[in-house]
Amino acid sequence: MTPRSWLFVPGDSPRKMEKGLTSGADALILDLEDSVASSQKLAARAQVAAFIEANAAGPVSLWVRVNPFETGLTEGDIAEVIPAGPAGIVLPKPDSARQLEALEVLLAHAEQDAGAMVGRTSVLPIATETPLSIFNMHTYVGASARLAGLTWGAEDLSTAVGAATARTADGAYTPLYDLARSLCLAGAAAAGVAAIETVYPDFRDLDGMAAYAARGRRDGFAGAMIIHPSQVAVTNAAFTPSPAELDHARKVIALFEANPSAGALALDGMMLDAPHLRQAQRILAAAVRP
Ligand code: COA
Ligand code: MG
Repeated sequence: MTPRSWLFVPGDSPRKMEKGLTSGADALILDLEDSVASSQKLAARAQVAAFIEANAAGPVSLWVRVNPFETGLTEGDIAEVIPAGPAGIVLPKPDSARQLEALEVLLAHAEQDAGAMVGRTSVLPIATETPLSIFNMHTYVGASARLAGLTWGAEDLSTAVGAATARTADGAYTPLYDLARSLCLAGAAAAGVAAIETVYPDFRDLDGMAAYAARGRRDGFAGAMIIHPSQVAVTNAAFTPSPAELDHARKVIALFEANPSAGALALDGMMLDAPHLRQAQRILAAAVRP
Protein backbone atom coordinates (compact mmCIF):
# COMPACT_ATOMS: atom_id res chain seq x y z
CA MET A 1 0.00 0.00 0.00
CA THR A 2 1.57 3.30 -1.07
CA PRO A 3 1.74 5.89 1.74
CA ARG A 4 -0.43 8.97 1.17
CA SER A 5 1.54 11.32 3.42
CA TRP A 6 5.35 11.23 3.56
CA LEU A 7 6.43 13.57 6.38
CA PHE A 8 9.99 14.89 6.24
CA VAL A 9 11.65 14.99 9.65
CA PRO A 10 15.15 16.39 10.20
CA GLY A 11 17.31 13.45 11.28
CA ASP A 12 19.11 15.45 13.97
CA SER A 13 15.88 16.09 15.90
CA PRO A 14 14.75 13.18 18.09
CA ARG A 15 11.93 15.43 19.34
CA LYS A 16 10.50 15.88 15.82
CA MET A 17 11.01 12.20 15.02
CA GLU A 18 8.85 11.29 18.05
CA LYS A 19 6.27 13.91 17.04
CA GLY A 20 6.21 12.54 13.52
CA LEU A 21 5.37 9.09 14.79
CA THR A 22 2.07 10.27 16.30
CA SER A 23 1.27 12.81 13.57
CA GLY A 24 -0.93 10.44 11.56
CA ALA A 25 1.51 10.39 8.64
CA ASP A 26 1.61 7.09 6.76
CA ALA A 27 5.37 7.42 6.30
CA LEU A 28 8.24 9.45 7.77
CA ILE A 29 11.24 10.48 5.70
CA LEU A 30 14.01 10.76 8.29
CA ASP A 31 16.32 13.24 6.64
CA LEU A 32 20.11 13.05 6.63
CA GLU A 33 20.44 15.47 3.70
CA ASP A 34 19.43 19.11 3.23
CA SER A 35 17.68 19.72 6.57
CA VAL A 36 20.76 18.61 8.54
CA ALA A 37 23.76 20.95 8.93
CA SER A 38 27.19 19.57 7.96
CA SER A 39 28.33 19.61 11.59
CA GLN A 40 25.37 17.38 12.56
CA LYS A 41 25.61 14.78 9.76
CA LEU A 42 27.27 12.02 11.77
CA ALA A 43 25.19 12.56 14.89
CA ALA A 44 22.02 12.47 12.76
CA ARG A 45 22.99 9.09 11.28
CA ALA A 46 23.21 7.57 14.75
CA GLN A 47 19.98 9.22 15.94
CA VAL A 48 18.06 8.05 12.87
CA ALA A 49 19.40 4.50 13.22
CA ALA A 50 18.39 4.38 16.91
CA PHE A 51 14.93 5.75 16.13
CA ILE A 52 14.32 3.17 13.41
CA GLU A 53 15.64 0.39 15.62
CA ALA A 54 13.03 1.33 18.24
CA ASN A 55 10.09 1.87 15.87
CA ALA A 56 10.56 -0.26 12.74
CA ALA A 57 7.96 -2.77 13.91
CA GLY A 58 5.30 -0.07 14.35
CA PRO A 59 2.57 1.02 11.93
CA VAL A 60 4.41 4.02 10.43
CA SER A 61 6.58 3.30 7.41
CA LEU A 62 10.09 4.62 8.13
CA TRP A 63 12.25 5.88 5.25
CA VAL A 64 15.65 7.58 5.27
CA ARG A 65 16.75 10.30 2.88
CA VAL A 66 20.49 9.67 2.53
CA ASN A 67 23.03 12.18 1.27
CA PRO A 68 23.60 12.18 -2.51
CA PHE A 69 26.56 10.37 -4.06
CA GLU A 70 28.64 13.49 -4.77
CA THR A 71 28.96 14.15 -1.02
CA GLY A 72 30.83 10.91 -0.33
CA LEU A 73 28.47 10.32 2.62
CA THR A 74 26.02 7.90 0.99
CA GLU A 75 27.90 4.70 1.75
CA GLY A 76 28.31 5.56 5.43
CA ASP A 77 24.65 6.58 5.70
CA ILE A 78 23.54 3.25 4.23
CA ALA A 79 25.95 1.19 6.36
CA GLU A 80 24.68 2.80 9.55
CA VAL A 81 20.90 2.84 8.96
CA ILE A 82 20.26 -0.43 7.09
CA PRO A 83 20.87 -2.72 10.11
CA ALA A 84 17.99 -0.90 11.86
CA GLY A 85 15.59 -2.03 9.11
CA PRO A 86 14.04 1.02 7.42
CA ALA A 87 11.24 0.40 4.90
CA GLY A 88 13.17 2.28 2.26
CA ILE A 89 15.73 4.84 1.15
CA VAL A 90 14.88 8.17 -0.48
CA LEU A 91 17.66 9.01 -2.94
CA PRO A 92 18.21 12.73 -3.65
CA LYS A 93 19.73 14.25 -6.79
CA PRO A 94 20.23 11.21 -9.04
CA ASP A 95 21.00 12.09 -12.69
CA SER A 96 19.43 8.82 -13.84
CA ALA A 97 18.78 5.22 -12.78
CA ARG A 98 22.57 4.67 -12.91
CA GLN A 99 22.79 6.06 -9.37
CA LEU A 100 20.03 3.66 -8.42
CA GLU A 101 22.26 0.79 -9.55
CA ALA A 102 25.09 2.15 -7.40
CA LEU A 103 22.69 2.41 -4.46
CA GLU A 104 21.57 -1.17 -5.00
CA VAL A 105 25.14 -2.42 -4.60
CA LEU A 106 25.47 -0.56 -1.28
CA LEU A 107 22.07 -1.81 -0.10
CA ALA A 108 22.80 -5.42 -0.98
CA HIS A 109 26.11 -5.32 0.93
CA ALA A 110 24.55 -3.64 3.95
CA GLU A 111 21.60 -6.05 4.01
CA GLN A 112 23.93 -9.03 3.73
CA ASP A 113 26.20 -7.73 6.52
CA ALA A 114 23.14 -7.21 8.73
CA GLY A 115 21.88 -10.72 8.04
CA ALA A 116 18.74 -9.23 6.47
CA MET A 117 17.01 -10.43 3.32
CA VAL A 118 18.75 -8.96 0.28
CA GLY A 119 16.19 -6.80 -1.53
CA ARG A 120 14.11 -5.96 1.54
CA THR A 121 14.80 -2.21 1.37
CA SER A 122 12.75 -0.19 -1.16
CA VAL A 123 13.94 2.95 -2.96
CA LEU A 124 12.21 6.23 -3.81
CA PRO A 125 14.36 8.51 -6.04
CA ILE A 126 13.74 12.27 -6.10
CA ALA A 127 14.08 12.03 -9.81
CA THR A 128 14.14 15.66 -11.09
CA GLU A 129 16.63 17.52 -8.89
CA THR A 130 19.45 17.92 -11.42
CA PRO A 131 19.27 19.46 -14.92
CA LEU A 132 20.51 16.20 -16.51
CA SER A 133 17.86 14.14 -14.72
CA ILE A 134 15.11 15.80 -16.78
CA PHE A 135 16.39 13.97 -19.87
CA ASN A 136 16.59 10.59 -18.11
CA MET A 137 13.22 9.86 -16.58
CA HIS A 138 12.73 6.82 -18.84
CA THR A 139 15.81 5.12 -17.37
CA TYR A 140 13.78 4.07 -14.32
CA VAL A 141 11.68 1.71 -16.44
CA GLY A 142 12.69 -1.82 -15.47
CA ALA A 143 15.65 -0.46 -13.49
CA SER A 144 15.11 -2.18 -10.16
CA ALA A 145 12.72 -4.41 -8.24
CA ARG A 146 13.37 -2.12 -5.27
CA LEU A 147 11.77 0.88 -6.98
CA ALA A 148 8.70 1.85 -4.91
CA GLY A 149 7.86 5.05 -6.75
CA LEU A 150 9.23 8.24 -8.24
CA THR A 151 9.01 11.67 -6.75
CA TRP A 152 10.27 15.02 -7.88
CA GLY A 153 11.69 18.25 -6.49
CA ALA A 154 11.61 21.89 -7.60
CA GLU A 155 13.97 23.67 -5.21
CA ASP A 156 17.28 22.03 -6.09
CA LEU A 157 16.47 22.10 -9.80
CA SER A 158 15.71 25.83 -9.71
CA THR A 159 18.95 26.49 -7.84
CA ALA A 160 20.88 24.39 -10.37
CA VAL A 161 19.55 26.31 -13.39
CA GLY A 162 20.01 29.68 -11.70
CA ALA A 163 16.32 30.55 -11.47
CA ALA A 164 15.27 33.18 -8.94
CA THR A 165 12.26 31.05 -8.01
CA ALA A 166 10.32 28.00 -9.21
CA ARG A 167 6.96 29.72 -8.75
CA THR A 168 5.03 32.70 -10.06
CA ALA A 169 3.60 35.29 -7.65
CA ASP A 170 0.32 33.33 -7.38
CA GLY A 171 2.17 30.13 -6.38
CA ALA A 172 1.93 28.26 -9.70
CA TYR A 173 5.04 26.48 -11.01
CA THR A 174 6.96 28.10 -13.87
CA PRO A 175 7.29 25.93 -17.02
CA LEU A 176 10.45 23.95 -16.13
CA TYR A 177 8.87 22.65 -12.90
CA ASP A 178 5.58 21.79 -14.56
CA LEU A 179 7.64 19.81 -17.06
CA ALA A 180 9.56 18.04 -14.28
CA ARG A 181 6.30 17.21 -12.52
CA SER A 182 4.73 15.83 -15.69
CA LEU A 183 7.83 13.77 -16.50
CA CYS A 184 7.70 12.33 -12.98
CA LEU A 185 4.08 11.26 -13.57
CA ALA A 186 4.83 9.73 -16.96
CA GLY A 187 8.07 8.12 -15.79
CA ALA A 188 6.41 6.54 -12.77
CA ALA A 189 3.51 5.21 -14.85
CA ALA A 190 5.95 3.86 -17.46
CA ALA A 191 7.94 2.13 -14.71
CA GLY A 192 4.74 0.76 -13.15
CA VAL A 193 5.29 2.49 -9.80
CA ALA A 194 3.55 5.22 -7.79
CA ALA A 195 4.17 8.92 -8.44
CA ILE A 196 4.57 11.01 -5.27
CA GLU A 197 3.92 14.77 -5.37
CA THR A 198 6.60 17.11 -4.04
CA VAL A 199 6.33 19.37 -0.98
CA TYR A 200 4.11 22.42 -0.52
CA PRO A 201 6.41 24.66 1.54
CA ASP A 202 3.87 27.15 2.98
CA PHE A 203 2.90 24.95 5.95
CA ARG A 204 0.63 27.58 7.54
CA ASP A 205 -1.64 27.66 4.45
CA LEU A 206 -3.72 24.51 4.86
CA ASP A 207 -6.32 25.54 2.25
CA GLY A 208 -3.45 25.90 -0.20
CA MET A 209 -2.08 22.49 0.84
CA ALA A 210 -5.52 20.89 0.40
CA ALA A 211 -5.94 22.36 -3.08
CA TYR A 212 -2.37 21.36 -4.01
CA ALA A 213 -2.89 17.77 -2.85
CA ALA A 214 -6.28 17.56 -4.60
CA ARG A 215 -4.66 18.71 -7.83
CA GLY A 216 -1.93 16.10 -7.32
CA ARG A 217 -4.45 13.31 -6.87
CA ARG A 218 -6.45 14.51 -9.88
CA ASP A 219 -3.31 14.32 -12.02
CA GLY A 220 -2.34 10.81 -10.90
CA PHE A 221 -0.13 11.16 -7.85
CA ALA A 222 -0.72 8.54 -5.13
CA GLY A 223 0.57 10.65 -2.24
CA ALA A 224 2.68 13.66 -1.37
CA MET A 225 5.82 14.50 0.56
CA ILE A 226 5.09 17.08 3.29
CA ILE A 227 7.18 19.07 5.75
CA HIS A 228 5.01 19.80 8.80
CA PRO A 229 2.60 17.75 10.96
CA SER A 230 -0.13 20.32 10.24
CA GLN A 231 -0.17 19.07 6.63
CA VAL A 232 -0.84 15.41 7.48
CA ALA A 233 -4.61 15.41 7.86
CA VAL A 234 -5.43 17.35 4.67
CA THR A 235 -2.96 15.23 2.69
CA ASN A 236 -4.36 11.92 3.92
CA ALA A 237 -7.87 13.17 3.16
CA ALA A 238 -6.94 14.33 -0.35
CA PHE A 239 -5.42 10.97 -1.28
CA THR A 240 -8.28 8.91 0.17
CA PRO A 241 -11.19 8.18 -2.20
CA SER A 242 -14.40 9.93 -1.11
CA PRO A 243 -17.59 7.91 -0.38
CA ALA A 244 -19.08 9.23 -3.64
CA GLU A 245 -16.03 8.06 -5.62
CA LEU A 246 -16.17 4.63 -3.97
CA ASP A 247 -19.88 4.38 -4.68
CA HIS A 248 -19.34 5.25 -8.34
CA ALA A 249 -16.42 2.80 -8.64
CA ARG A 250 -18.54 -0.01 -7.18
CA LYS A 251 -21.32 0.79 -9.65
CA VAL A 252 -18.91 0.67 -12.59
CA ILE A 253 -17.51 -2.69 -11.51
CA ALA A 254 -20.98 -4.13 -10.87
CA LEU A 255 -22.16 -2.98 -14.29
CA PHE A 256 -19.25 -4.70 -16.07
CA GLU A 257 -19.77 -7.85 -13.98
CA ALA A 258 -23.44 -7.88 -14.94
CA ASN A 259 -22.53 -7.52 -18.62
CA PRO A 260 -19.47 -9.77 -19.08
CA SER A 261 -19.57 -9.72 -22.88
CA ALA A 262 -19.91 -5.92 -23.22
CA GLY A 263 -16.83 -3.81 -23.93
CA ALA A 264 -18.58 -0.44 -23.72
CA LEU A 265 -21.51 0.44 -21.46
CA ALA A 266 -23.47 3.50 -20.38
CA LEU A 267 -23.88 4.70 -16.78
CA ASP A 268 -25.84 7.87 -15.93
CA GLY A 269 -25.51 9.07 -19.52
CA MET A 270 -21.73 8.57 -19.67
CA MET A 271 -19.78 6.09 -21.80
CA LEU A 272 -17.69 3.50 -19.94
CA ASP A 273 -15.07 1.17 -21.40
CA ALA A 274 -11.91 -0.65 -20.32
CA PRO A 275 -9.95 2.32 -18.86
CA HIS A 276 -12.94 3.29 -16.72
CA LEU A 277 -13.09 -0.23 -15.31
CA ARG A 278 -9.35 -0.15 -14.49
CA GLN A 279 -9.77 3.27 -12.90
CA ALA A 280 -12.64 1.97 -10.74
CA GLN A 281 -10.56 -1.00 -9.64
CA ARG A 282 -7.67 1.32 -8.73
CA ILE A 283 -9.94 3.57 -6.63
CA LEU A 284 -11.25 0.58 -4.66
CA ALA A 285 -7.71 -0.73 -4.15
CA ALA A 286 -6.56 2.69 -2.85
CA ALA A 287 -9.37 2.68 -0.29
CA VAL A 288 -8.09 -0.37 1.56
CA ARG A 289 -5.99 0.80 4.55
CA PRO A 290 -4.70 -1.39 7.36
N1 COA B 1 8.14 16.54 11.82
C1 COA B 1 7.80 16.33 13.11
N2 COA B 1 7.49 17.32 13.97
C2 COA B 1 7.54 18.59 13.49
C3 COA B 1 7.90 18.85 12.16
C4 COA B 1 8.21 17.78 11.31
N3 COA B 1 8.58 17.96 10.03
N4 COA B 1 7.83 20.19 11.96
C5 COA B 1 7.46 20.72 13.13
N5 COA B 1 7.28 19.77 14.06
C6 COA B 1 6.85 19.95 15.46
C7 COA B 1 7.71 20.96 16.17
O1 COA B 1 8.79 20.32 16.81
C8 COA B 1 6.73 21.57 17.15
O2 COA B 1 6.59 20.74 18.25
P1 COA B 1 7.11 21.21 19.70
O3 COA B 1 6.59 22.60 19.91
O4 COA B 1 6.52 20.19 20.63
O5 COA B 1 8.60 21.16 19.63
C9 COA B 1 5.41 21.50 16.43
O6 COA B 1 5.55 20.49 15.42
C10 COA B 1 5.03 22.80 15.77
O7 COA B 1 6.08 23.24 14.97
P2 COA B 1 6.18 24.76 14.49
O8 COA B 1 6.58 25.63 15.63
O9 COA B 1 4.94 25.10 13.77
O10 COA B 1 7.33 24.70 13.42
P3 COA B 1 8.88 24.91 13.69
O11 COA B 1 9.17 26.37 13.56
O12 COA B 1 9.30 24.23 14.94
O13 COA B 1 9.52 24.15 12.45
C11 COA B 1 10.21 23.72 10.24
C12 COA B 1 9.34 24.60 11.14
C13 COA B 1 9.99 24.08 8.79
C14 COA B 1 11.69 23.95 10.60
C15 COA B 1 9.84 22.25 10.51
O14 COA B 1 8.48 22.10 10.16
C16 COA B 1 10.68 21.22 9.83
O15 COA B 1 11.74 20.89 10.32
N6 COA B 1 10.19 20.65 8.69
C17 COA B 1 10.88 19.64 7.96
C18 COA B 1 12.09 20.20 7.25
C19 COA B 1 12.71 19.19 6.35
O16 COA B 1 12.87 18.04 6.69
N7 COA B 1 13.10 19.62 5.13
C20 COA B 1 13.69 18.76 4.16
C21 COA B 1 12.74 18.40 3.07
S1 COA B 1 12.17 19.77 2.11
MG1 MG C 1 16.94 19.37 -1.49
